[in-house]
Amino acid sequence: MKLHKLASPLGSEILDIDLSRPIDDATFRQIDDAFSERSVLVFRDQVMTPAQHVEFSRRFGGLEIHVLKQYLLADFPEILLISNVVENGKPVGIADAGQQWHTDLSYVEIPSRCSILYAKQIPEPGPDKTYGDTCFVSTAAAYDALDPEMQKYLGTLKARHSYLKRPHVRAKLSEEQKKQVPEVIHPVIRTHPVTGRKCIYVNESFTTEIVGLGKEESDALILQLCEHCQSEQFMYRHKWRVGDVLMWDNCSTQHLAVADYGPEQARLMNRTTVRGTAVF
Ligand code: OGA
Ligand code: MN
Repeated sequence: MKLHKLASPLGSEILDIDLSRPIDDATFRQIDDAFSERSVLVFRDQVMTPAQHVEFSRRFGGLEIHVLKQYLLADFPEILLISNVVENGKPVGIADAGQQWHTDLSYVEIPSRCSILYAKQIPEPGPDKTYGDTCFVSTAAAYDALDPEMQKYLGTLKARHSYLKRPHVRAKLSEEQKKQVPEVIHPVIRTHPVTGRKCIYVNESFTTEIVGLGKEESDALILQLCEHCQSEQFMYRHKWRVGDVLMWDNCSTQHLAVADYGPEQARLMNRTTVRGTAVF
């Protein structure tokens, strides 16, 4: 397998795998190992059907079915559409799947292990610019860069996460729906279930409070940790091409969808979400 490490603390490109074909166990193990080590994998020039996308994703674990039923592929509810495309007055997918730094599903008890995104349509690039990039940071590298005293202190803390932190989301849900997304508490530093690396698990989108601190101190610490994680030195910025399949680890990374394109520039991604294991 041809693996190319990207020049950032996370991410590898895999150059010679065709995801539309069955993958033998030995090859899968290499992919899985590379994924644990690098947190982000990029496969270029893929042409796969929804069934093949689902089949490949299932190798990593059971798949989540998103609550927003109107954005699931009719025959493949495991596939969620992320898109700004509007057809007959109706959006075909979720337009804002993450335009603020986040990790997927940190607001549930058992967050997802990873998400696998397949680029079907991408905004036309300009002469020296691409649009609709996605940025990733390594929360493991960000943890390693903290001084030992800080690491020790953070290791004693827990934080509250809520889907309702973002005001535009809060505004759209009924009281009944709000009850269906109760807050959860996770450790501020979580351990990667495979590599054992420690990762900062506080994010701008969903972390509302560090448990036991006063509001001011809590807000300041959340901001400090988010700013630290978002530093260039821990970042990989993915410039999409049609046919890219990119997967990311939701323990050891955070990501951000760059919203720098207009409604006239169609962007369409198919996403699967792999279930995770208990946070510790
Ligand atoms: C997601 C997400 C980023 C993007 O699907 O979870 O954050 O660039 N997507 O579409
Ligand atoms: Mn996301």
